[in-house]
Amino acid sequence: MAKFLVQKSDPLNGEVYISGAKNAVLPLMAAALLAEEKCVIDDVPALRDVEVMKDILASLGSEIKELMPGKLEVYTPVIKDTEARYELVSKMRASFLVMGPLLARNGHGKVHMPGGCTIGARPIDLHLKGFEALGAEVVLKDSYVECIAPEDGLVGASIYLDFPSVGATENIMTAAVLAKGTTYIINAAEEPEIVDLANFLNKMGAKIKGAGTDTIKIEGVPNLHGAQHTVIPDRIETATYMLAAAITHGSLLIKNVVPDHVKPITAKLRECGVQVEFGDDGMYVIADNPDVKLTATDIKTLPYPGFPTDIQSPFMAFLTTVDGASAVIETVFENRFMHVAELNRMGANIKTDGNKAQIQGGKKLEGAKVIATDLRAGAALVLAGLVADGTTEISEIYHIERGYEKFVDKFKAIGADIFRMDE
Ligand code: UD1
Repeated sequence: MAKFLVQKSDPLNGEVYISGAKNAVLPLMAAALLAEEKCVIDDVPALRDVEVMKDILASLGSEIKELMPGKLEVYTPVIKDTEARYELVSKMRASFLVMGPLLARNGHGKVHMPGGCTIGARPIDLHLKGFEALGAEVVLKDSYVECIAPEDGLVGASIYLDFPSVGATENIMTAAVLAKGTTYIINAAEEPEIVDLANFLNKMGAKIKGAGTDTIKIEGVPNLHGAQHTVIPDRIETATYMLAAAITHGSLLIKNVVPDHVKPITAKLRECGVQVEFGDDGMYVIADNPDVKLTATDIKTLPYPGFPTDIQSPFMAFLTTVDGASAVIETVFENRFMHVAELNRMGANIKTDGNKAQIQGGKKLEGAKVIATDLRAGAALVLAGLVADGTTEISEIYHIERGYEKFVDKFKAIGADIFRMDE
């Protein structure tokens, strides 16, 4: 198994270019199944999760071509198979996003229960509640979920989500675009990735309004056509590099950024004393002013536009290094503190109680052997490793490589001492 070896590094400096968003491209790829014509997606990041989604689409009948690096063509003249099998689906939770398109286009989908990062129970009840409201019969058997549309197809409905789930909103949107009549998703997720998906679907001929608000209206259309779309920049990758500048007391120019998408991180880093400025060429994150002493702050994760759960662990790594006490409250997932034990192993002082973590900051971190327990926890450990004395050896890095494009190359280019070791 490959590992990362991270050494204490000088303050990070220079420029980094943000890739297309992992969490946007996966639903876009699944949505391309809805059209008989070719769809072209630009700025597709080279990630393991994207490879998994390509394999799933190919297994369902899509012809996938990489027209040039980052430019993906998905062509599905017919869906040959409506069953997404265990071997592929178990690798990634987002694979369940093919259910909406399969159900909409073929009236049938059978997908193994999804896998992915083990951050909580992550049920799919809200997805299924949505499909049922649209008229589908839902059968759960042998770890598979089978959804069957009525003979005359799905019918628009008003669907209230008990929690603004990102995946459920996406799956219901892609199921409802071809339903008869109008669908309302109430208490919908408002994440930028939802807006990106709605924009793509509308380019394909769908009639979706309100994406980015808590109520999405979808007027069903008989079919969708091909379209071309560029993926939005990855706001979680952006925030990770913002924190890399902050934790190392460096200074970075981060390019290809939508400032609105990282507002909570910007606000919180400013509270800690980090300077964040926006220019024509990108975002400047400046933490190398010797006159400014960085200090602690509290964070609470929430659905968008609140503080993103995906940045909770990288932000916590930063909080362990600044003076003062801070509290981190996780409200989105119930088991997202697995990085705490690893950070404590490196000398951090973090205590957890349920969904609350108390951090006594300003601790000197020491390199240790740690495990990337999930994708973002892995990023947090790399950040900690950059300021820890000695060597930090991070195993299970496949999690990190699932979601960060050219992770080692990008970090090395801004001065990080990080090495990928194949074992
Ligand atoms: C997506 C992101 C993930 C991010 C998360 C929250 C992708 C590929 N992944 O995951 O990086 O951390 O949003 O911003 O976009 N829930 C239910 N029932 C359901 C669905 C979800 O109870 O049917 C709960 C989950 O257990 C969790 C919460 O809702 O506690 C949020 O989950 P959700 O928004 O669905 O996250 P994902 O779409 O899986």
